[in-house]
Amino acid sequence: MLRTLEQRVLRARRRGRRARDVGIFGLDVKQRRGYDTEFKGSIHEAYRESVQDWTPVWKSVNHETPRITVPGPPAFGAFRSVVSAPLGIDIYMCLASERPYMSDFSDRIALITGSSRGIGAATAERLAERGARVVVNYRSSEDEAESVAAGIRDAGGEALVQRADVTDPDAVESMVTAVEEEWGTIDVLVNNANMPFEYASFAEMDWADFESKLDAELKAAFTVSKAVLPGMAEQGYGRAVYVSSGLGRRPQGGFIAHGTAKGGLDSFVKYLAQEYGADGVAANVVAPGIVETPATEDRIDDVREHVIDSTPLDRVAQPEDVAGAITALASDDARFVTGTYTPVNGGSVME
Ligand SMILES: NC(=O)c1ccc[n+]([C@@H]2O[C@H](COP(=O)([O-])OP(=O)(O)OC[C@H]3O[C@@H](n4cnc5c(N)ncnc54)[C@H](OP(=O)(O)O)[C@@H]3O)[C@@H](O)[C@H]2O)c1
Repeated sequence: MLRTLEQRVLRARRRGRRARDVGIFGLDVKQRRGYDTEFKGSIHEAYRESVQDWTPVWKSVNHETPRITVPGPPAFGAFRSVVSAPLGIDIYMCLASERPYMSDFSDRIALITGSSRGIGAATAERLAERGARVVVNYRSSEDEAESVAAGIRDAGGEALVQRADVTDPDAVESMVTAVEEEWGTIDVLVNNANMPFEYASFAEMDWADFESKLDAELKAAFTVSKAVLPGMAEQGYGRAVYVSSGLGRRPQGGFIAHGTAKGGLDSFVKYLAQEYGADGVAANVVAPGIVETPATEDRIDDVREHVIDSTPLDRVAQPEDVAGAITALASDDARFVTGTYTPVNGGSVME
């Protein structure tokens, strides 16, 4: 009976993409039959459905049977030969328990657009640190992208560098195909790449400059979403986070093109959330205030003091602050959160 269960687990594991990263294992010594029974009812569900559905399975197993946990497949192998075989007890890989912490990304493939520096690079690093395999996307800064990826790999993570202009549908399609061929379907999308804009008042602005920002911002979000969200929907799981800006809601002189484009992005994301919710895909907005990145290095010192004075958390935001909020929204801790707008501004604007 137990062998049959093990065979079923292994068979399901061969079939299920998610099953390859099993990280925690259940051990039942005294209540084998109960353990087996628990799994018989749930194993196919567990492999077919997304992680949301595995968690209750884990809880019920955990509730019913004594268990110990060991980290990661290599440790499992060692554990099995050192403890299990000599003692003559059976250890089963327990997919339902593969995520000890819900904010663990160890089974996730994440694409972060514009991650060769700034907020995107910090987000790629944070997600990789939490176990995701990350795609570092860039348009022209190859060396910077390679250096972000090298840092991730040095820290023990997995990174794939992909060049693609996110406003070019063919380039984005090729990037997504390359990721799918290399790793599989993208689970987490962070739409972040920074589209340039003309800093000017309405009086100074001409349509060409205004249009170019609206076009780039929305075309990037549209193009990347078009290439990634259908795959997420097909697998019944996806978390998309879009980096907007507080300027979409709170105007500041000179930012009319940027703010209007980000306002459009905010609405677009709500529509995605509405359309894709039933497919298990969540879409949320993160809206930073000013952040110290290469994009703001020419003006940050002029406003630093004012920003600190008007920020209850008493400092200027760093890319890692935004990366943290993105990671939270991309995690399964936020699995029932969609269509939301999260300001990341240290309290400078409270909504
Ligand atoms: N910094 C802030 O104060 C602030 C505040 C609010 C919101 N935001 C938003 O946060 C996001 C990131 O900003 P950031 O300050 O981190 O920008 P950043 O430091 O200028 O980095 C921009 C990144 O986007 C990439 N990129 C630009 N155009 C691209 C394209 N067409 N295709 C692919 N990648 C492209 C760049 O790579 P390449 O050099 O290779 O093109 C780079 O990796 C943006 O959406 C921005 O609007 C920033």
